[in-house]
Amino acid sequence: MPFFHLDKEKCKKDGICSAVCVTGIIKNDDNHSPYINEKNAYKCISCGLCVAFCPHEACYVENLDPAQFSKVNKDTLASSEQLDTFIKTRRSVRIFRKNAVDDETLNKIMDNVRYAPSAKNTHNNRWIITKSREETVKLGDLVVKYMQEHILEMPEEHALHYKLLCRAYQSGKDVIMRDAPHIIVAVLPDKYEWKAEDGSTALAYFELSTHAHNIGCVWAGYFTSVARVYKPLRDALGIKDDEYIAGAQLFGNPVYKTRQITSRKPNNISYI
Ligand SMILES: Cc1cc2nc3c(=O)[nH]c(=O)nc-3n(C[C@H](O)[C@H](O)[C@H](O)COP(=O)(O)O)c2cc1C
Ligand code: SF4
Ligand code: SF4
Repeated sequence: MPFFHLDKEKCKKDGICSAVCVTGIIKNDDNHSPYINEKNAYKCISCGLCVAFCPHEACYVENLDPAQFSKVNKDTLASSEQLDTFIKTRRSVRIFRKNAVDDETLNKIMDNVRYAPSAKNTHNNRWIITKSREETVKLGDLVVKYMQEHILEMPEEHALHYKLLCRAYQSGKDVIMRDAPHIIVAVLPDKYEWKAEDGSTALAYFELSTHAHNIGCVWAGYFTSVARVYKPLRDALGIKDDEYIAGAQLFGNPVYKTRQITSRKPNNISYI
């Protein structure tokens, strides 16, 4: 089985696949026909760019899965204006309905997340998702337990803040887990160089994908900072010592929707 599959009938020899291949392993022969020398096959990072940019569905490489290919349907592409609105209407959601997100929607969101960029296309993310509010609450209880146990060791301003958070949590006002039905945690190998970038980027894809499917989410900062250091919480999540938590987001069906685009601080850009 050749590593590079080329449909010679369909190929128009336009050189696009060789131009876009990030590893440069696709070459063109004297007749402008693309090929990959088998001894270079190991360099392929399975990014699929050769397939994505080929205008004629004429090539693929052995370590890609053609069953997942689909031609871009121009009718399903949003306009730039629609996408501008989409991006600006993505807001943190902190008030959720109690019911769980249905599996079909969650699967679509997680399917999108696979298309986030990742260094060398390694996709080292591992995801932990609570499927019910009961599981999410158990994790929130551990966050509060940690805060209570460590309040005395904290700098004064943190201690006061954590004390207020814990008190509110215990009186039924959950500003830590926001009464969310779910939390998603992005976990990567601790020794992986691009763990923070890959994890955050995938979470940003998650965040935008939830918005696309009318699901709300918010970054879970308190949870993340505790989960990074508190063994009982890591154990409850099944996170090993050699794993890094890139971030976490609370999510669920939102009660409210964005009705207006608001103001933001202007960008601080130096064009050079
Ligand atoms: C943290 C990070 C670093 C990256 N560094 C490079 C880089 O130095 N050069 C490059 O060509 N691509 C770089 N990429 C792009 C990845 O190779 C690319 O995301 C991956 O191959 C998947 O392809 P896609 O972005 O087309 O989905 C980087 C991506 C990330 C997230
Ligand atoms: S991009 Fe497609 S059509 Fe163009 S040279 Fe490569 S295989 Fe042939
Ligand atoms: S999958 Fe990516 S790295 Fe592999 S041949 Fe195609 S473009 Fe090159």
